[in-house]
Amino acid sequence: MILQRRNRILRRNAAIRSLVAETTLTANDFILPVFIDEGKDVEIEIPSMPGIYRRSLDKTVAEVKDCRNLGIKSVLLFVKCDDQLKDNTGRESWNKDGLMQQSIRAIKDAVPEMVVMTDVALDPYSEYGHDGIVKNGEIVNDETVEALTRMSLSHAEAGADFIAPSDMMDGRIGALRMALEENNYSHVGIMSYSAKYASCFYGPFRDALDSAPGFGDKKTYQMNPANRLEAINEMLQDEDQGADIVMVKPAMAYLDIIREIRENTTLPVSAYHVSGEYAMIKAAAKMGWLNEEKAVLESLLSIKRAGAGLIATYFAKYAARLLQE
Ligand code: PBG
Repeated sequence: MILQRRNRILRRNAAIRSLVAETTLTANDFILPVFIDEGKDVEIEIPSMPGIYRRSLDKTVAEVKDCRNLGIKSVLLFVKCDDQLKDNTGRESWNKDGLMQQSIRAIKDAVPEMVVMTDVALDPYSEYGHDGIVKNGEIVNDETVEALTRMSLSHAEAGADFIAPSDMMDGRIGALRMALEENNYSHVGIMSYSAKYASCFYGPFRDALDSAPGFGDKKTYQMNPANRLEAINEMLQDEDQGADIVMVKPAMAYLDIIREIRENTTLPVSAYHVSGEYAMIKAAAKMGWLNEEKAVLESLLSIKRAGAGLIATYFAKYAARLLQE
């Protein structure tokens, strides 16, 4: 054949392919979610998340140093709250000496350059395992936002760089931004879980924190997986209300949403490659059905190509190591 255009010229060898690559992954893209537990010298593997541990603070600090050495710039903190401290108000979440607040201080102390983000939602602290306060079987919005405000201010006071509200209550971004402004925390950022879907892929996470809802589901606040335009609405409102980074969650089954959000805002976009997405790859790799290294890098690259400049992923350390090789 005499062809005018041969697409395969640009795929001929690895050097050419990398010259024309449109997307590249680096450790700068990753945020590592970490699970923190009470005690000392504790390291408990999450059964549905092999290779991921819930650690006491001493071990967590060592983990964060490891991240820094791998070039990872940010960690997203989650704590497991003692059952006895759980109630319907979530008051433990704004305890100045709570596990989260201690953790923020210890991590910022040990690795000041690490960008510390904190999950803001009531579920780990709620006796009902819901993200908000429960009244007559409903998750009440406005009272929950008041609780989230207290929680966020206590994270800011402890030294968090970003708060990351994952609760999906209405009006919370504006309320949190105002509260930060009024309390001399105007430097603290908000990474909003703007388009957070009511997804089955959070299952392993709820095992990790023992935070599964005690009744019902989260469909009255998290989004319906059927909807796309609604994600744009949520994101635009968060942008208006002062979010600094907007997030889509989960990631792999929602690549279209990531692209949609990327095209409708000029803010940085992040995506959360969630616990169930981690578990799927680990399970298939363990069975010998997928090549783990390749599956991880291809998944993360696809999330970035879809439009997420930042990716919260349990594979952050693993991928950072692979990228160094
Ligand atoms: C808390 C929260 C959840 C996740 C992040 N923050 C669970 C939920 O909404 O039920 C899930 C993260 C993951 O699955 O990795 N609101």
